[in-house]
Amino acid sequence: MAAISLVVPSRAYLPGYIAALETGWSPDNTQDVHAEQLVSIRRDADAFLKDLISFDGPIRHADGSVTPRLPNKLFWIWDGEFCGIIGLRWQAGTEELPPNVRGHIGYAIVPWKRRRGYATEALRMILPEARSAELTRVFLTTDADNVASRAVIERNGGVAVGPNTPPPTGNFEAGETGYWIAL
Ligand SMILES: CC(C)(COP(=O)(O)OP(=O)(O)OC[C@H]1O[C@@H](n2cnc3c(N)ncnc32)[C@H](O)[C@@H]1OP(=O)(O)O)[C@@H](O)C(=O)NCCC(=O)NCCS
Repeated sequence: MAAISLVVPSRAYLPGYIAALETGWSPDNTQDVHAEQLVSIRRDADAFLKDLISFDGPIRHADGSVTPRLPNKLFWIWDGEFCGIIGLRWQAGTEELPPNVRGHIGYAIVPWKRRRGYATEALRMILPEARSAELTRVFLTTDADNVASRAVIERNGGVAVGPNTPPPTGNFEAGETGYWIAL
């Protein structure tokens, strides 16, 4: 497997990110944001990057709602080319997450870089970041039929929350599987 790094989004890596968006790939699994991100980048790339890694300010959702931004760390996955994204968000001093947040960590790999172990490795690499945010475990959710994502989490020691057990934190919907990873 080629070595990957988690890099902080910056101008140096932006062309690969733009190329991925231009294929129609969306870094957000829950809504297609590729077109609006391209517009934002073309309008002001530096402002786009600043907002992407910002710790404060509001987050606007597809349904028009606005929620406060949690502390977060967002990385681009890089193997010499842009491969995908992985992000961590949390609330200081607690494992709890607000109801609009599905889990502490989310990720997506561009289709042409999949099946190389990159998501598995990226999740392994971001766990120390969660530890340094003073979390002792992280909660992740995935669609129950997302075989790839479940494998990624299980290969990182994820333990599934039972189907009839209320999730300990986060928002949890029917058809999803929740996992804890102890840090
Ligand atoms: C889920 C996702 C991040 C996995 O990325 P990836 O880099 O391909 O994952 P890995 O290479 O680490 O694969 C982990 C394992 O998952 C399984 N897997 C991966 N893709 C699979 C597929 N299409 N079908 C069946 N199993 C699959 C394999 O067991 C794989 O290991 P292997 O290739 O050694 O057999 C990627 O498919 C993706 O971006 N999907 C869309 C966004 C998404 O679902 N994000 C997660 C939301 S919770």
